[in-house]
Amino acid sequence: MRGIILAGGKGTRLYPNTISVSKQLLPIYDKPLIYYPLSVLLLAGIRDILVISTPRDLESYRSLLGDGSRLGVRFSYAVQEQPRGLAEAFLLGEKFIGSDSVCLVLGDNVFYGQYFSSVLWKAQKQAEECGAAIFGYPVKDPEAFGVVEFDQDHKVLSIEEKPTHPKSNYAVPGLYFYNNDVVEIAKNVRPSPRGEIEITSINNEYLRRGQLCVTLMGRGMVWLDTGSAKGMHKASGFVSTVQEMQGFYISCIEEIAWRQGFIDSAQLWKLGKELEMTEYGQYILSLLEERK
Ligand code: DAU
Repeated sequence: MRGIILAGGKGTRLYPNTISVSKQLLPIYDKPLIYYPLSVLLLAGIRDILVISTPRDLESYRSLLGDGSRLGVRFSYAVQEQPRGLAEAFLLGEKFIGSDSVCLVLGDNVFYGQYFSSVLWKAQKQAEECGAAIFGYPVKDPEAFGVVEFDQDHKVLSIEEKPTHPKSNYAVPGLYFYNNDVVEIAKNVRPSPRGEIEITSINNEYLRRGQLCVTLMGRGMVWLDTGSAKGMHKASGFVSTVQEMQGFYISCIEEIAWRQGFIDSAQLWKLGKELEMTEYGQYILSLLEERK
């Protein structure tokens, strides 16, 4: 399975922070926002990753992440000229995806929770066997998201993008697993009234074909909002609190690459040494101490 991180957009809801800097490069506490969705792909065991961003920002991502060899993965890059919609990721990524299945994660979505790796593993299997796997997460303001409606047996009835009258309080988070059909489906999606090719249209096509699996995320999972300055501030507070209390870091990409076996201990030590002046770097080095 291949992975795509969509990290474009104008970030206008965060102005003036994002006038000259890409939103997904802003910090959530001690690391750039994009580290969080990147961690999701690494946890899923995905090593071929396409980063999509704006003509202005793509170079910044390249200088942050490089070719991926430091983490034992491969990063490719693609420009999205205009924010034409999330589904454009599959058109821009057509060559990259080739004949593979694909996971799309939005560059501003933060997930954290126990057993998340097994949730990701199951979703990959579902997408390969069923067609598409997405999630539902309970929120207080569903009208701000894609919303999934179920019947009593949890059968999905509809998915609506930012409905005025939401039919449930389950939002669809920005994490989607699809088989290879998604490329052809994306080619046939017509722009919505707001002029975007919507991910919700892709999900509805899979639903129409009877090939959409929706898994509900429960209380044990955290999906954090980074859509506003307040949301980012709260997300930073959450990360710092958990890290401080537990001593485990959230979305330390070097740690995940090491635990997944993408890099060895010598490489982890090298990465930790480069960042030794920060608590983040010291945490990386401490992982090696524990294993001794
Ligand atoms: O976060 C989950 C939600 O993401 C879903 O529930 C919705 O169904 C989905 O449409 C999307 O809603 P948003 O209102 O959050 O989408 P937004 O336009 O803010 O885009 C999400 C991120 O993707 C944002 O960081 C910018 C980036 N983006 C967006 C578009 C439209 C791109 O990189 N390119 C784009 O063309």
